[in-house]
Amino acid sequence: MGIKGRDIITTHSLSKEDIEYILSSSEKMQKLLEDGKSHELLRGKILATLFFEPSTRTRLSFESAMNRLGGSVIGFSEASNTSVKKGETLADTIRTVDQYCDVIAMRHPIEGSAELAAQFAKAPIINGGDGAHAHPTQTLLDLYTIKKEMGKIEGLKIALTGDLKYSRTAHSLSYSLAMLGAELVFASPEQLKMTEDFTSDLKRDFGVNIEEKTQLEDVISDVDVLYVTRIQGERFPEPAEYEKVKGLFKVDLELLKKAKEDMMIMHPLPRVDEIHPSVDKTKHARYFEQAFYGIPTRMALIAGVLGVEV
Ligand code: NCD
Repeated sequence: MGIKGRDIITTHSLSKEDIEYILSSSEKMQKLLEDGKSHELLRGKILATLFFEPSTRTRLSFESAMNRLGGSVIGFSEASNTSVKKGETLADTIRTVDQYCDVIAMRHPIEGSAELAAQFAKAPIINGGDGAHAHPTQTLLDLYTIKKEMGKIEGLKIALTGDLKYSRTAHSLSYSLAMLGAELVFASPEQLKMTEDFTSDLKRDFGVNIEEKTQLEDVISDVDVLYVTRIQGERFPEPAEYEKVKGLFKVDLELLKKAKEDMMIMHPLPRVDEIHPSVDKTKHARYFEQAFYGIPTRMALIAGVLGVEV
């Protein structure tokens, strides 16, 4: 059992048992956090955070998680300050950093970069997002949020909405949700539908039937969780295409009149305009709690890959 020594690159490689292990370890980590004492579980261990793409929550929660467990952090949040600027390859950067740390969390704009890094590092690589492909640690904190806030995952009707073509959060989350027995609904503008690659994986591996809609109004009344994503403007090959879809999907108080009493709204954040700020005060909003859950989940993940039991 456990995830000692493993790279965490996509959710495809996380079994039900792996996920249960990480969620129960996250629960223990949350208790450690709540008792307010300092902890030394990872004293002497070093996490490197290599962020080649912007990040607020992912990088800072990885660093906070490592600090909370008594470990240390090195890294960069701006590749232009590193030898990448001089033309160094990702493989050489990774081979070097590997000698300075025990575990590496990285984010990179190119799909497949985390997988490539894993081939050159002895230390476990944790993928903090590779282009539009995958974001497995976000999925783990999303699953933990659903479990904590709704009490279960199996049997819930969960709508993934917004930009399903380019959102790596939606790609990774849909796989684990299908595996854990949630009922999936996809709602996105026609141009931003989940690509065939991802839906065919879900159908092949889990035989699921997925409802696909093009309006939030079509899904709002019967879902338990509304997972909202940002339109990923920076990933559109043509800016004109982004102009056509930006602002199309918006959650506001009017829409919420049709929602179930205990429906929960999630968002990996950052948001732009897809959730109106007036929604923040409603009982449905849980996206800032979700951001908090990134800490216990990443504490569990780092300790897990380093083989340290809580
Ligand atoms: C997401 C990401 O980077 O994919 N953010 C995050 O990690 N919480 C979502 C996004 O950028 O829209």
